[in-house]
Amino acid sequence: MALPSLLVLYGSQTGTAQDTAQRIGRQAQRKHIQNRVAPLDGYNVAHLISESLVIFVCSTTGQGDPPDNMKNFWRFLFRKSLPAGSLCQLDCAVLGLGDSSYPKFNFVAKKLHKRLQQLGASLLSSVGLADDQHDLGADAVIDPWLASFWDRASALYPSMNTLSVTVPSFPRFCRLPPRYTFHFLEGVGETSGDTERNSKEQRVPSESHPFPARMTSNQRVSHPSHFQEVRLIEFDISDSNIEFTAGDVVSMRPCNNPEDVEQFCQQLRLDPDSQFILKVAPESKPPPLPPPPCSLRHLVEGYLGVAAVPRRSFFETLQCFSTNELEKEKLAEFSSAEGQDELHAYCSRPRRTALEVLCDFPHTTAELKVDYLLDLFPPIQPRSFSIASSPLAHPGKLQILVAVVGYKTQIQKPRRGLCSTWLSSLDPSQGEVRVPLWVKKGTLRFPADQDIPVIMVGPGTGVAPFRSALQERIAQGKAANVLFFGCRSQFKDFYFSAEWRDRVEEGQLKLFTAFSRDQVRHRVADEDKIYVQHRVKEQSKLLWDLIANRNAYFYIAGAAKDMPASVCDALKATFQLEGGLSLEESDQMLVAMEKAGRFQSETWS
Ligand code: 2AM
Repeated sequence: MALPSLLVLYGSQTGTAQDTAQRIGRQAQRKHIQNRVAPLDGYNVAHLISESLVIFVCSTTGQGDPPDNMKNFWRFLFRKSLPAGSLCQLDCAVLGLGDSSYPKFNFVAKKLHKRLQQLGASLLSSVGLADDQHDLGADAVIDPWLASFWDRASALYPSMNTLSVTVPSFPRFCRLPPRYTFHFLEGVGETSGDTERNSKEQRVPSESHPFPARMTSNQRVSHPSHFQEVRLIEFDISDSNIEFTAGDVVSMRPCNNPEDVEQFCQQLRLDPDSQFILKVAPESKPPPLPPPPCSLRHLVEGYLGVAAVPRRSFFETLQCFSTNELEKEKLAEFSSAEGQDELHAYCSRPRRTALEVLCDFPHTTAELKVDYLLDLFPPIQPRSFSIASSPLAHPGKLQILVAVVGYKTQIQKPRRGLCSTWLSSLDPSQGEVRVPLWVKKGTLRFPADQDIPVIMVGPGTGVAPFRSALQERIAQGKAANVLFFGCRSQFKDFYFSAEWRDRVEEGQLKLFTAFSRDQVRHRVADEDKIYVQHRVKEQSKLLWDLIANRNAYFYIAGAAKDMPASVCDALKATFQLEGGLSLEESDQMLVAMEKAGRFQSETWS
């Protein structure tokens, strides 16, 4: 059989499945197998009927949902109208990335495997179930799964074997040809590096065509003495074709900070002002850079993930440049399946950035070639925020509530969230600030029916989607709204307090607050803290009435930890107390509500 071209399609939420898919692409390249690697939603799924060999790499998000960049594919694949044998020409395999501490472990990969079988595809391997909880990390499953996949593929396509005899594979530590080539230009002035201003275009902004929204305000809303900086940021999106409703999220790609950019260029001995035009190898996707020529500074600042914690494939590529024995040995260890524990301790646990890794491997860094920058560094990942406003209350505007992330690890320099730190540094009062962004459907959906009440539990910045829902519902005259809000202190982090007070006075909102650290003047012990779940329990009569008699919807949003589970327990206690249900019946009631879309949660860590 002729040598097939391999297609690796991934659905990735945080970048791990993407990294794995790209690693598979590089393995294929070493075997001289033509390959393409693409996100599932970036691939025209109608073409699947003409593919011969495909690996699907998919993670599963918290609630057993597919990642955002495969949602359209998912909807398409599960259409009832697809005929049973429509993929009968396809040889494929599914590799799932998941975490067995979640109840729906690798749900997406398992379901995809079954569906592909139903559609007539030949599954070359059993579904790979990589597990983040595995003692040796997900690679303990991925590596043997891949080895067996290659064996089966070469048994099916013997030309793969023939080829590797006549043209030897690239050895593991040998550099592959770069996918991109930089052509530097002489004497070209500085380009702005701005993304195209497509404000008058008719298309709906998306990741590949974001809308450069003007930031109109950026205010700190937590008290200056509060331990955390939280900001309410507003963008002008008039003329953008962006439409959204409560529960939707806005995404953006943050920029690296200027000091990191300078340091990176110095380490690699690059002139940040030099301009280049990129030549892209066939089959490779051009990166989303502004129209050429582009400056190296812009490439590093806006595109290369130098401040991200690098993954195994970074070390794999890096070691190909190393001629220093000590460094090479260490990099080889970090690239191996056996070295993953060590890599976790060195990189993931202390949240060491790629830039810091380069400092630890100076000899290798000095040998890096510019053409490999885009192979080595993954693109900066977009970040998403729940939208905190409604266009019905703020026409032409979009607001987000952002907690500026900062924490300590064993590394001396504090760790900072790239996007929140970048956003907090932007000051629209000092000149025009534009942030390219796009909007996606979120997971939370609110009832269209006027008469259905909503109960929302949103401590901290979890309140953001509920502010949007409240503004929308109140503008539409839907009055039965209950909000449980929790924060540390009513004087420090009680966001939107004046707004809530007005809504309560107007009779449009019932508000219950839990100030975890206000009740005593001195240090508050954990057992004395008042949390939203305590308030939920106290309001059992009201909640039972709304849920059992008026079909109310119940929502939870916020930073995960134990909060969602504790709120669920409080809700079930309400069912038992007021409805006389047993523990088992209250579990069943919550499951039934979830199935009917009447219990929804959006949590993050
Ligand atoms: P704490 O920081 O005093 O513990 C918003 O962050 C609010 O959520 C704060 O009041 C915080 O309290 C509270 N919080 C922290 N852990 C929680 C949990 N497990 N359940 C409910 N609320 C929690």
